[in-house]
Amino acid sequence: MDRRKFISGVALTSAGLAAGGAAQNESTSKQSKTVTEAVGPKKAVIISKNTGMQGSDGAYELLRRGHDTLDAVLWVLRAQEDDPNDDSVGLGGLPNEDGEVELDACVMHGPTRRGGSVGGVRNIKNVSAVARLVMERTNHVMLVGEGAQKFAVAHGFPKENLLTEHSRKTWLLWKETMSNQDSWGPGISDPNWKPPVPVPSGTPQALQQKIDHMYEVAADLGIAPEDRMKAISRVLNPPTGTIHCSVVNEKGEMSGGTTTSGLAWKLSGRVGDSPIIGAGCFTDQDVGSAGATGSGEENIKIAGAHTIVENLRKGMSPQEAGMDALRRIARNHNNDMNKLRFLEMVFYVLRKDGAYAGVSLWSHGPTGKPRNFHVNDGTKRLENCTALFQGSAIEWPPILQPATGK
Ligand code: GLY
Repeated sequence: MDRRKFISGVALTSAGLAAGGAAQNESTSKQSKTVTEAVGPKKAVIISKNTGMQGSDGAYELLRRGHDTLDAVLWVLRAQEDDPNDDSVGLGGLPNEDGEVELDACVMHGPTRRGGSVGGVRNIKNVSAVARLVMERTNHVMLVGEGAQKFAVAHGFPKENLLTEHSRKTWLLWKETMSNQDSWGPGISDPNWKPPVPVPSGTPQALQQKIDHMYEVAADLGIAPEDRMKAISRVLNPPTGTIHCSVVNEKGEMSGGTTTSGLAWKLSGRVGDSPIIGAGCFTDQDVGSAGATGSGEENIKIAGAHTIVENLRKGMSPQEAGMDALRRIARNHNNDMNKLRFLEMVFYVLRKDGAYAGVSLWSHGPTGKPRNFHVNDGTKRLENCTALFQGSAIEWPPILQPATGK
């Protein structure tokens, strides 16, 4: 090919691409007319998991002072990452099977249409801020493991032990009671050792025996009496934790972010939905922002947050958009309630015009309280989620009280 032909070929290809792009944009904008034409809401809106109440006032104040929406998102996420009593996020997050806390996070910034993410990060507490730096200070979108940690240290983040006494002892309780086929926990030389009383496995008596044993181990490990049943519940029903937050300001600028220590006792290296852009969080400046807490593996398979934002683009309300995503999870299990009753999922949906919804697979949490989410539109509050199914996911195995009544 001579030079003239090459150049004209390139020009034609570019023109074709440009025409294709314009056509695509036109059809997209037709589909989403009502959404993309929306300006910002009358008042800024923050939505998040219920734990976001803690950072809510500070985040809203940032918005009042004209800070970026991503600053407000990170304020909410950071409050939980810094809180040693939130055992699902940051400092004090429940660790993996090796007793190592591995954190995941992602952020998306609507106005600049960028995202950043980190997965499987050890010894760095504020991973949502690291995800933001990946977005702002690299040519990449996602860093994982040791590389993400090195990057964080290079940017001045301190390496710290993220295990609190609570999370360490709860992990030890899991480690010592998960099996009698290993050497974890006192053996037959222990003066208090008793031969196990055989009861048929899978019966309520077997579960009762297990819980009684766990209660004794929890006491031996120095877990305070008032914390023992909570620790046993964490061991038997490993939580997925997490906090998501989405924000829109009065100009209609949006951001979102999600941070987590992930599924408790997970395999080392397991990464859930939280750092996966499109699953744990997705923000599209034209349309809206969404995020998730709950069963990470289920959410990844339906690209939940992206699905929801695309539903908004097609004109669904925030509630409809979220319910459709929940129905996709149910469909993946052929709507088999024997499986769905063991899953948990909450989606947080915020449209560019400030309309919002929190939707959950089940109407109630394991303790019998209605599933709720946090909203702040100048007034901070919790609102109940709209649920696909009434009732609560069944904890497996169900938790009984110790027979001794301790
Ligand atoms: N949703 C958090 C996780 O599954 O890791």
